[in-house]
Amino acid sequence: MPVARDNKQLQTLVYFCYMAEDLSIISGSKSEQYQSIISQIQGLLEGETDLIANLANTVAALKQQFGWFWVGFYLVKDNELVLGPFQGPVACTRIRKGRGVCGSAWEQAKTLIVPDVEKFPGHIACSGFSKSEIVIPVFFKNEVVGVLDVDSENYNQFDSADQIYLEEITGLLNF
Ligand code: SME
Repeated sequence: MPVARDNKQLQTLVYFCYMAEDLSIISGSKSEQYQSIISQIQGLLEGETDLIANLANTVAALKQQFGWFWVGFYLVKDNELVLGPFQGPVACTRIRKGRGVCGSAWEQAKTLIVPDVEKFPGHIACSGFSKSEIVIPVFFKNEVVGVLDVDSENYNQFDSADQIYLEEITGLLNF
């Protein structure tokens, strides 16, 4: 971290660091954790119109709060899902409609919860560490414009509570 030499430089540093330093990570029930991080994500999105910045901060906040193996967005581009902002190991860059969990959630326009990825026909294994997964389609004007994909190293990680809260989070995003 550079040392600020005058007040203007200090203000600039405070401006750039404000968001990250302000994130508060809590322990507690799943609901408490989601409620805490959702209100902070609302704060992060407020007043910012840049989509990539908002997607990036959303996945960073989720990763920091829950520590999942991988969390990120795929965005619909030219009738394919293309890797967007994410947190975690490098991942597959393009997924076709109907392929894998992500492409299936896109095609069916509904959230898919996969307790054991090896039992999902056509699952795309970007990493052998991923054991369970939830994929939430993101809508704009009733069209799926992307998906939020979350992977866990544990089997049976995600349930209907994750679905409800993660759908609430994707609903906050303005595409
Ligand atoms: N497993 C996903 C591919 C994306 S990675 O998990 C990041 C799928 O089957 O669509």
